[in-house]
Amino acid sequence: MAAFTLKINGQARQVDVDPNTPLLWAIRDGAGLTGTKYGCGVAQCGACTVYVDGQTVRSCSMPVSAIGTSEITTIEGLDSKEAKAVQAAWVALDVPQCGYCQSGQVMSATALLSVNPTPTDNDIDLAMNGNICRCATYVRIRAAIHGAAKSLEG
Ligand code: FES
Ligand code: FES
Repeated sequence: MAAFTLKINGQARQVDVDPNTPLLWAIRDGAGLTGTKYGCGVAQCGACTVYVDGQTVRSCSMPVSAIGTSEITTIEGLDSKEAKAVQAAWVALDVPQCGYCQSGQVMSATALLSVNPTPTDNDIDLAMNGNICRCATYVRIRAAIHGAAKSLEG
């Protein structure tokens, strides 16, 4: 075990875990932020998506010891205008079914709109490709991203 101070959502959080512990478990069990989900554990489903210094990362596959002083953002800390537009569009279109994958979907959709405010269907499919939804909400996800992009126009 070792003590790590993680910067999560703008706050310093002390976690006491094995250095090889995936960041996901440091966030969930160490910091008590359970919005980030465990799906596959092998970087294949996107349920555990967080930002590390603004970049999307599969937190199940990154050891906590690799984080250093990087800034971590989880679903609980999303507050950009893109994030608000995505969340509003998600509600308006009733995107989630079981909801399990949706934190990761929202994190990836927000990241996409932050770099590409007017994504095409193809852009969306490419950006969201690593986020699996076993309830197959893909059609609503795509529509909600377009809706969020429209609401951000002007
Ligand atoms: S749990 Fe991390 S990608 Fe599936
Ligand atoms: S809403 Fe159920 S897994 Fe995506």
